[in-house]
Amino acid sequence: MKEKGKKIPMILDGDPGHDDAIAWVLAEASRRSDGIADIRAVTTVGGNVTLDKTTYNARRVCTLIGLKDVPLAAGAAHPLQAELMNAPSVHGESGLDGPALPEPEIEISSLSAVELMAKVLRESREKVTIVSTGPLTNTAVLLLAHPELKKKIERISLMGGGVGFGNWTPAAEFNILVDPEAADVVFRSGVPVIMAGLDVTERALMLPEDFQKIRELGNPVSDIVYQWLEFFYKFHCKLGYAGAPMHDPCAVMVLLHPEIFTIKKYHVEIETEGDYCRGTTVADVRGTTGKEPNADCIMDLDRDAFAAYLIEAVGRY
Ligand code: RIB
Ligand code: CA
Repeated sequence: MKEKGKKIPMILDGDPGHDDAIAWVLAEASRRSDGIADIRAVTTVGGNVTLDKTTYNARRVCTLIGLKDVPLAAGAAHPLQAELMNAPSVHGESGLDGPALPEPEIEISSLSAVELMAKVLRESREKVTIVSTGPLTNTAVLLLAHPELKKKIERISLMGGGVGFGNWTPAAEFNILVDPEAADVVFRSGVPVIMAGLDVTERALMLPEDFQKIRELGNPVSDIVYQWLEFFYKFHCKLGYAGAPMHDPCAVMVLLHPEIFTIKKYHVEIETEGDYCRGTTVADVRGTTGKEPNADCIMDLDRDAFAAYLIEAVGRY
């Protein structure tokens, strides 16, 4: 893990998505205040909804938060092999239902996501962290097409998987299940991985009292984040959640405040076959494979600290 306070060059890759959007709010708040999040590019992938919608949403979110001076590129419309699965039941038909957002003031790069990722890596003096909050297709294609650039990747901080359980099937989490072949490429790549799986993200709950604290911040971004949280919570409270699980923000928060998380090093393999377990992140918790760990798996967090840091970040707009 990087020492606290040091700039972290990063690429935000996701499928906004309410929680992707909040993860980007968190990253941009850092960029404009403590400067730790050194955002170099934004890339999109099909996932929660189709690529055209996630890209439109990405452009609107970046416009809302003032992240308009870094390039934004569209990536994979579908997984490496599987047909695209979407999640409109969770995020709505638009992928970001709820509050009205500004029309985009940022254009889509003429480069593809992978071409932009490669360009950023090639031109960066420092190593770059890829923060992936959607299916891993773009990152997998980058690793396959440009193996020579692996040495320029500091780590891949991803929201995905779960050591103990899934959410889209009993065994698999959505991001991994959408493209298990891509996840397999990432976890076998040798590039350091931080896995923010469901073990931690379902504990990273923003509670209704936290929503109110965000609402009381009274800035243009806090009002939107409040409505995103309310929307996300409406879906989750029907499933018995006490709050809105901040899946994707965990992949950013762990870079900014690693001290609030509990991390275990495991060897993780991706199940790409099977009727019941395709997309499972199989973590060798007991060391039975004898294989070296390939992922820092986040297993727990200080929820109160997480919520306080997220509220503080939204207050910076
Ligand atoms: O399983 C949660 C993940 O799936 C999050 O990234 C959410 O945005 C959806 O993509
Ligand atoms: Ca996502």
